[in-house]
Amino acid sequence: MTKPLLVLGSANADLVVEVGRRPGGGETVLGGDTVVLPGGKGANTAVAAARVGASVALVGALGDDGYGSLLRSSLEDSGVDTALVKTSQRPTGIAYITVTPDGENSIVVSPGANADVAESDVDALSFDGVQVLTCSLEVPLETVIHAIDAASKAGVKTVLNLSPVAELPAETLKQLTTLIVNEHEAAQLASDWRHLLRLGPHTAIVTLGERGVAVVLPAGVKEIPGVKVDKVVDTTGAGDAFAGAFSARLAEGDRVVVAAEYAVKVAALSVTKAGAQPSYPTAAEVSSPVAG
Ligand code: RIB
Ligand code: NA
Repeated sequence: MTKPLLVLGSANADLVVEVGRRPGGGETVLGGDTVVLPGGKGANTAVAAARVGASVALVGALGDDGYGSLLRSSLEDSGVDTALVKTSQRPTGIAYITVTPDGENSIVVSPGANADVAESDVDALSFDGVQVLTCSLEVPLETVIHAIDAASKAGVKTVLNLSPVAELPAETLKQLTTLIVNEHEAAQLASDWRHLLRLGPHTAIVTLGERGVAVVLPAGVKEIPGVKVDKVVDTTGAGDAFAGAFSARLAEGDRVVVAAEYAVKVAALSVTKAGAQPSYPTAAEVSSPVAG
């Protein structure tokens, strides 16, 4: 049975180390103990959606190794369907992440198995019963382009989290229901947020970190303020939390603005805990008074 929400994207083992400051070229700094956590933009998005109650499947690839097992368990424990996650000959993707005391991260990704997510995997999909396809860009660009094309032709809503940033064909941008970009990417794409829709997507969302998001609609821009949290612990995967929760609500039939309001709360809660997937809230946690 195909799930109403399909997420196509990466799954990585996140090797996280806390550092006082990041080293420059040729420099060495000592950090804390390495923590291994389930991550990857695709897996994060799927887990965030599942935690808030979505019925979701991930389309992706893992290596036949210990990190692959870690990722599969994290996905399955959160209720993500992994039938479409294939096992590749290559090692599971790894993200090398440094986190500084202000909660800011910087990441180097080694794609490994994620590079094997192929157009043929998209051809094998059935879009029957699928409401929303959500993609991110740590898997080959041609696969994502093909998936968005196939989904939009099947009448499925398409969401693209343009992360990490890449150049997209004009045709693909026109096939998007919602383009999600951060403010730096938005500035590269258009001089004014409103102009993002001229590129082709029906709607666009500009994520503004702790300031919330701006939803760009044909009728104008609606700003959704961020939700204040006591302490920012780790922002890793906050954008994926937003994309996952947004897609979950869209697949349930929410309007874009309503889905984005909900997803802003989910992303805010995610930064109060360490890691990506382990920090994502459940629907009950989102609706508790603490979450605003
Ligand atoms: O967006 C956060 C994710 O980026 C991390 O989980 C890491 O795996 C990298 O892919
Ligand atoms: Na987090």
